[in-house]
Amino acid sequence: MSHHHHFFRAFLRNLGHVGAIAPSSQGLADAMVDWIDWDTIGSVIEFGPGTGVFTEAVAKRKKEDTRFIAIERDPELAAITSRRCPEITIHEDCVSNVVPLAREAGIETADAIICGLPWASFSPELQDQCLHAMFEVLPPGGKFATFAYWQGLALPSGQRFRKFLHENFSTVEQSPTVWKNLPPAFVYRCER
Ligand SMILES: C[S@@+](CC[C@H](N)C(=O)[O-])C[C@H]1O[C@@H](n2cnc3c(N)ncnc32)[C@H](O)[C@@H]1O
Repeated sequence: MSHHHHFFRAFLRNLGHVGAIAPSSQGLADAMVDWIDWDTIGSVIEFGPGTGVFTEAVAKRKKEDTRFIAIERDPELAAITSRRCPEITIHEDCVSNVVPLAREAGIETADAIICGLPWASFSPELQDQCLHAMFEVLPPGGKFATFAYWQGLALPSGQRFRKFLHENFSTVEQSPTVWKNLPPAFVYRCER
């Protein structure tokens, strides 16, 4: 079965948590990671790798000794990412547990967080829970990349998330739209 099939099955299993019908494109993966100077990154955490398209992009760019863990709540998708990137530790868990998982990997604070979570599909409570946990590991100066679909911006949850970014990060930049992604998407490139 292809990654697309596995992903779509996960979408049906976890409505509201997967938040997309297909894995992100290579173009979106590049837009997520190419604004970061990987020579300056000693520790990186990925939230919601799905089938591992961003995981692979980070693994290709990071320094050999950079610590890298990923956290994926869906067991089938976590297993696919583990097979795709066997050298990276993929935790089958919720990102709200990031603090103990990072400590276990020797990461006190993360220089970058690469995030695939579907924020616009989350309830306000789940958004707050995940954002609160994230700020416990992301220090001032830390980089945060997360993507959004244009139609998600029309939802109150998408607007709430965008407002949160502008209120809590010192810089928030928006990448050009990646039209070849299904659906078209852009990346919020933030620095705390
Ligand atoms: C929109 S998909 C993105 C997957 C992949 N990054 C990509 O772009 O193709 C969101 C992913 O986040 C995972 N996820 C959702 N809520 C999560 C949570 N609380 N903790 C960890 N992973 C979560 C889902 O299972 C899914 O794999």
